[in-house]
Amino acid sequence: MTSLRTPRLTLRRWREDDLEPMAAINADPEVMRCVVDGSVRDREQTAEVIARWEREWDERGVGLFAVEVRETGRLAGFTGLTVPDYLPEILPAVEIDWRLGRPFWGRGIATEAARAVLHFALRDRGLARVVGVHQVGNDASEAVMRKLGMRRERETVAPASGAPVRVHVLEA
Ligand SMILES: CC(C)(COP(=O)(O)OP(=O)(O)OC[C@H]1O[C@@H](n2cnc3c(N)ncnc32)[C@H](O)[C@@H]1OP(=O)(O)O)[C@@H](O)C(=O)NCCC(=O)NCCS
Repeated sequence: MTSLRTPRLTLRRWREDDLEPMAAINADPEVMRCVVDGSVRDREQTAEVIARWEREWDERGVGLFAVEVRETGRLAGFTGLTVPDYLPEILPAVEIDWRLGRPFWGRGIATEAARAVLHFALRDRGLARVVGVHQVGNDASEAVMRKLGMRRERETVAPASGAPVRVHVLEA
C-alpha cells in the first residue's frame, strides 16, 4: 500500500470512513469555487469519485492521496497525481492536484503535502515532468505552485468549462 509521511501529515490510499469528511469538503461552495465549473458535489458523487481515484491507483500506479493530519487523525482533503484529460492540448502529462477543507487552509498543509508528492513523482515513480493547472484567480493555488518551484508555462482555456487556466511545470 502506497503511503507517504511528512512532519505533520500522512498521505495514504482511501478508506471507507473518508467518505463523510471528503463529501463535506466537496459540498462547500467556497472550496469548489475554482474547481471545474464551481459546482459542489454531493455524497454519492464523492463516493463515485473516491472509487475512481482508487481505480486510478491500481491502473496507473499514481493517484490522489487522502491527506490525514497525524496529530488528530482528521482528513484534511487530497493531494496527488492525476492525468489532466480536461486539457487535451497539454497531454500527455501528469498533473499535481490538491483540495483541502477550509479549516485546514493557511497552515502550509497543501505545500507540505505537495512537496512529498513531487518527490514521490520525480524520484520514486521516475516521472520527468509534472504540471500544475489552476484557474486564473485561484491565487492560493498559484502561490502553492510558486512555493513548489513550478514555472509558469502558459495560459489557456479549459474547453469544457470555458475557464481561463494557467499551466505551471516542474521538470526533474
Ligand atoms: C489551494 C489550497 C489547497 C491551498 O491550501 P493551503 O494549505 O492553504 O496552502 P498553503 O498554506 O500551503 O499555501 C497557500 C499560499 O497561498 C497564499 N494565499 C492564500 N490565499 C490567498 C489569496 N487569496 N491570494 C493570494 N495568496 C493567497 C498563502 O499566503 C500561502 O502563501 P505563503 O505561504 O507564501 O503565505 C486550498 O486553498 C484549497 O483547498 N482551495 C480550494 C480547492 C482548490 O482550489 N484546489 C485547487 C484547484 S487548482
